[in-house]
Amino acid sequence: MKVRLLLLLALAAAVLGAVLFLSDPVENGLPAPRPRPPAQPGSEPAAAARETPFVSASECRECHADVYDEWKRSYHGMAWTDPMVQALSNGFRMTECIDCHAPQPIHLTGVDQRVAPRSHARSDGVDCISCHILADGVSVAATRDIDTSGVADACRPVQTATMGVSTLCAGCHNQHETVDELDASGLDAECQTCHMPEVDRAGPRGARKGHSHVFPGAHSEEMHRRAVKLAVAVADGKVVASVTNVGAGHKVPTDARHRSYNLWVDAWDARGNPIVADQAMEDGEFRLYYRDDFLPSTQIAHGETRAGTWPIPEGFRGRVLVRLTYALNPEELLARPRRVFAVHSQEVQVP
Ligand code: HEC
Ligand code: HEC
Ligand code: HEC
Ligand code: HEC
Ligand code: HEC
Repeated sequence: MKVRLLLLLALAAAVLGAVLFLSDPVENGLPAPRPRPPAQPGSEPAAAARETPFVSASECRECHADVYDEWKRSYHGMAWTDPMVQALSNGFRMTECIDCHAPQPIHLTGVDQRVAPRSHARSDGVDCISCHILADGVSVAATRDIDTSGVADACRPVQTATMGVSTLCAGCHNQHETVDELDASGLDAECQTCHMPEVDRAGPRGARKGHSHVFPGAHSEEMHRRAVKLAVAVADGKVVASVTNVGAGHKVPTDARHRSYNLWVDAWDARGNPIVADQAMEDGEFRLYYRDDFLPSTQIAHGETRAGTWPIPEGFRGRVLVRLTYALNPEELLARPRRVFAVHSQEVQVP
């Protein structure tokens, strides 16, 4: 319990440190609602402007139920309720944590600029409005030009170039340098390329293609299998396990300091007797350490390979199993049994 508490404190200190240098939040609140145009005799009620701007994600649900359901189970949808965030922010009494976890619309505060906290519907976390509502408080940002005339009380999609590019994510995600890392990778990809794959939608006006709002990331086993490749070989009296970042546009794990990839070894002699079980490999931890650990980063950049080793005991012959696991935070590594999952594993025979 004590270790657990210390870890939580260390985590909190690290996260707090990461945000201390950031600027002051701007004034709360949405823009004033757009004035309702004068009623035109004979005009359809459908064409009338909304009197109030959208204020909650559930309003979008009426017409975009499929997108809503994806978002609701995404970490954007949980950014406020996430128990880990709640714990580390002391129930958001650390008010500087509210900024990105319950933000005002980013098109209002400026795409690519530091976001500001909002004062209503905070439990919606990073909601539809955070990313879609434009500065007039009514129109929504879309990647394509689309006509919604005649749709009762519809949103007004306006083609907005930043919706399709990484800049959209920068205000919140570049705290962890994710956007800078993608720029440095030389990859011809945007954040949306990997995190918003194409999906089929029912859509308010019938079937069409859309982009997933689940935003899979560190909590997705499939994303980890895609992120890294494991290759195990025997050389110079050692088992060498090479981990290459083949599938993430940024460093893995990301700059969120509590994440790690770890390499473990199990070995059995020629008769099948266990020699070692679940042993950490040398240099087999890949992560960014907390500031007060003073250890160099062992994150793996896109295209880069890092290796862990296991010195083979004198005279050993037999079977060696190497496992690469992922942990969201150090508590998962300390738990018994560990709350980690094998991203990849591979066996080699010695000699
Ligand atoms: C009353 C129904 C209605 C509501 C409420 C509504 N929308 Fe829409 N929306 C539509 C319709 C209809 C279209 C265009 C047809 C389509 O998507 O198939 C559309 C289109 C869009 C598009 C562009 C789609 C594309 O394919 O490029 C976006 C983005 C969007 N809406 C976001 C939102 C958001 C965010 C909210 C809540 C703030 C919202 N909408 C609320 C009806 C609605
Ligand atoms: C307004 C702030 C904000 C914007 C803009 C934003 N995000 Fe996030 N994002 C967050 C926060 C906060 C979290 C962490 C939520 C949590 O885990 O509680 C997050 C989490 C994620 C995750 C992690 C999911 C997981 O399972 O670990 C991914 C992936 C992600 N965002 C991708 C994107 C992409 C891609 C964009 C741009 C298209 C984007 N985000 C724009 C704030 C934002
Ligand atoms: C500048 C924006 C920003 C601020 C301010 C911010 N966060 Fe976050 N937070 C993020 C993003 C983006 C992620 C997604 C993880 C990543 O980028 O690797 C995240 C993820 C997290 C996670 C991981 C959640 C999980 O499920 O694993 C925790 C915990 C967290 N934040 C806590 C905090 C705390 C506590 C504060 C205040 C001290 C804070 N955050 C302030 C942007 C922010
Ligand atoms: C080439 C594909 C690719 C691109 C491009 C990409 N990512 Fe990722 N991303 C991944 C994979 C794979 C993972 C899973 C590995 C991990 O979590 O470390 C991931 C994980 C994440 C996570 C979860 C990290 C955590 O520790 O919670 C966030 C947040 C994220 N990406 C944000 C972004 C943002 C923002 C961009 C754009 C700057 C981006 N990604 C571009 C593939 C990509
Ligand atoms: C983190 C930012 C973010 C959040 C939160 C978000 N969206 Fe989106 N949304 C985008 C981006 C970026 C695109 C464009 C994707 C593309 O074309 O590559 C998009 C596309 C769309 C589209 C058109 C394409 C499609 O997939 O159908 C609709 C409709 C939409 N969003 C509605 C919503 C609704 C409703 C919510 C809340 C339930 C929501 N969005 C939350 C960023 C976001």
